[in-house]
Amino acid sequence: MKVVIFGTGYVGLVTGTCLAEVGHDVTCVDIDIAKVEGLNNGVIPIYEPGLAPMVKDNHASGRLNFTTDAVAAIQTGDVIFIAVGTPPDEDGSADLQYVLKVASTIGENIHRPVIVVNKSTVPVGTADKVRAEIERALKARNASVKFDVVSNPEFLKEGDAVKDCMRPDRIVIGADNEDAVMVMRRIYAPFNRNHDRMVTMDIRSAELTKYAANAMLATKISFMNEIANIAERVGADIEHVRKGIGSDPRIGWHFIYPGAGYGGSCFPKDVQALERTATQVGYRAELLGAVEAVNDRQKSHLFELMVRHYGSAQALRGKNIALWGLAFKPNTDDMREASSRRLIALLLEAGAKVRAYDPEAAHEAKRIFGDVAGLEIVPRATDALAQADALVIVTEWKQFRSPDFNALGHALADRVIFDGRNLYEPAEVEGHGLAYWAIGRGR
Ligand code: UGA
Repeated sequence: MKVVIFGTGYVGLVTGTCLAEVGHDVTCVDIDIAKVEGLNNGVIPIYEPGLAPMVKDNHASGRLNFTTDAVAAIQTGDVIFIAVGTPPDEDGSADLQYVLKVASTIGENIHRPVIVVNKSTVPVGTADKVRAEIERALKARNASVKFDVVSNPEFLKEGDAVKDCMRPDRIVIGADNEDAVMVMRRIYAPFNRNHDRMVTMDIRSAELTKYAANAMLATKISFMNEIANIAERVGADIEHVRKGIGSDPRIGWHFIYPGAGYGGSCFPKDVQALERTATQVGYRAELLGAVEAVNDRQKSHLFELMVRHYGSAQALRGKNIALWGLAFKPNTDDMREASSRRLIALLLEAGAKVRAYDPEAAHEAKRIFGDVAGLEIVPRATDALAQADALVIVTEWKQFRSPDFNALGHALADRVIFDGRNLYEPAEVEGHGLAYWAIGRGR
């Protein structure tokens, strides 16, 4: 089928590439000329395992094209996906200006029936707004073209995006007529061979499903962080508690890892947006507010552990802190809402100096922090340890999992590790004469 995708961010680029990989003819449209030029020359704007070779292969085969020419692209599409950003507005609601701009461009330019698919994470009711915008644009040029609007939220995870997209655990389709569902079935048939992963429903339910999924996952994390904070105070070890509860299949092993707080482009934004939607319809979403508040507090938790270790925030003045992990999670260079950002800000404010290392996010950190005094981004994990007093770990990259504790003992003048991801066994670290502060591990 002929597919057009607006937006070459995470969702758009990965979806477009995977649809091309299974044989569809895909045109990705973006307004960013440099990005489109780069993609046409094999420059992939994000780090995502497995994505670069797939983009290059499909581009070379002619099934995956990149353009800034929205008008020409629209003429080619049977199905047009909207996968542009919905950044949070000042009040926390999702900003729909980019989604609606695409809708009007579609209305201004379609000449034959199409299906317009919302893949961006958009509040309940957005499909209606997209439909109204397309109708408005059609009317403005006295045209009448049949179109459908479908909600098809994306559930891929950064770092696993290609895998999630090629082997989805579910494909949610919200539509208001069977014909549209049938077209979506054809699009997704290659992903749906062995058993039917398609869940069809009305449009509003599909829109809400996306927020419910992310809010549930964020809730699990904030819940565990809250229990971890209690564990610290009652002298319990959250890692034992985690294993003790995860074995109950109703709770499950996934997403119950306490840490330095959740970040990324989705959870913080989506929890806020859902809370805002609730408020707009006259419901105070207490749980969502608490999920967010707990997460916000958790982002300062590593700093608080450091203050506890050193006795006061003043005692951090002049300390050299080695920081491992800047990205909001491993296998990505994304630092949106990353806990490292809060920690670095607090450390610099306290007068400490930070040498930070991340396997992929160095360029992003340099872009975000510029030449701020007191922060140096270094190219290797060992470089961060030079003259360091303490080590703090914020992201659980695999390469941090089994360090040479002897070497760390020699490198760290204050012989202390702060671990925001509970990577080590306390007894092992302490056995090397290092103090070890982790999350929720009773001290
Ligand atoms: C999240 C969802 O997991 C995807 O299903 C969803 O499609 C995506 O948002 C989206 O809406 O686009 P993502 O933001 O890429 O995916 O990252 P996650 O792997 O979910 O991690 C989010 C944050 O939670 C990270 O900061 C991670 O460190 C933290 N986390 C995760 C924990 O602190 N504990 C856990 O047990 C799991």
